[in-house]
Amino acid sequence: MTRLRRARCILALTGSGISAESGLPTFRGTGGLWHDHRVEELASPAGFARDPVLVWSWYNQRLAAHRRASPNAGHYALAHLETLCADFTLATQNVDSLHKRAGSRNLLELHGNLREARCSSCDARRPLDASGLPLDEIEHECGGRMRPDIVWFGEPLPRGAWLQAERAASRADVILVVGTSAVVYPAAALATRYNASAYVAEINLEETPISAGVDFVLRGPAARELPRIVNALSS
Ligand code: OAD
Repeated sequence: MTRLRRARCILALTGSGISAESGLPTFRGTGGLWHDHRVEELASPAGFARDPVLVWSWYNQRLAAHRRASPNAGHYALAHLETLCADFTLATQNVDSLHKRAGSRNLLELHGNLREARCSSCDARRPLDASGLPLDEIEHECGGRMRPDIVWFGEPLPRGAWLQAERAASRADVILVVGTSAVVYPAAALATRYNASAYVAEINLEETPISAGVDFVLRGPAARELPRIVNALSS
């Protein structure tokens, strides 16, 4: 807590675990999205080229679930923490927009978001409402195809967001790693590979590949642990 109180620069890295208590599934493990679905079919350029209707049907379902969900106390705690620290960055791997809806401002969506579709050929964009993209509108007038504005496996992260995240990781005094299995790179590298002197704290229900190397571990749900930390800081 002392390290957090003294921190001049904080980076928080979040993954799908922070949205678990909003009712959204994580990716790995029992009940996870990748337990019942094949990554290569649904989250790769090759899968999209093979069956764009299947891919959009899946993302439309996820988008509807995101819109039904509400930010939880963990999302709000991070938005509050931002108001207590002059140099705060939140890098998320999530595409569910719950951090944005909770009020986080300096937010880097490393894997994109599901608020827009974009044409894979001419980059034209269109906003998505809760019903997603109509399946008969996947083909774009330019001859390309509309795709979700997210990062798929094998694709680079959005360059601007990634550079900002790297810089925030390099200068951070404290790095909070919340609700991520820390197995997907390059995002996971932000936790431990950019700054040997940062104090790294992990908040997760389970052990992850980085647990042994971090400075502090909180084993508990993010929606409980984050408000505890942030309330103690602001009192
Ligand atoms: P994972 O499903 O890999 O990991 C979720 C983590 O959240 C696990 O370590 C859980 O133990 C933890 N967890 C679950 N509920 C929690 C809770 N209530 N509080 C705290 N922790 C909790 O999801 P991500 O790490 O987000 O990428 O996965 C990273 C990327 O892999 C995703 O962005 C996605 C996926 O494939 C793309 O689609 C490009």
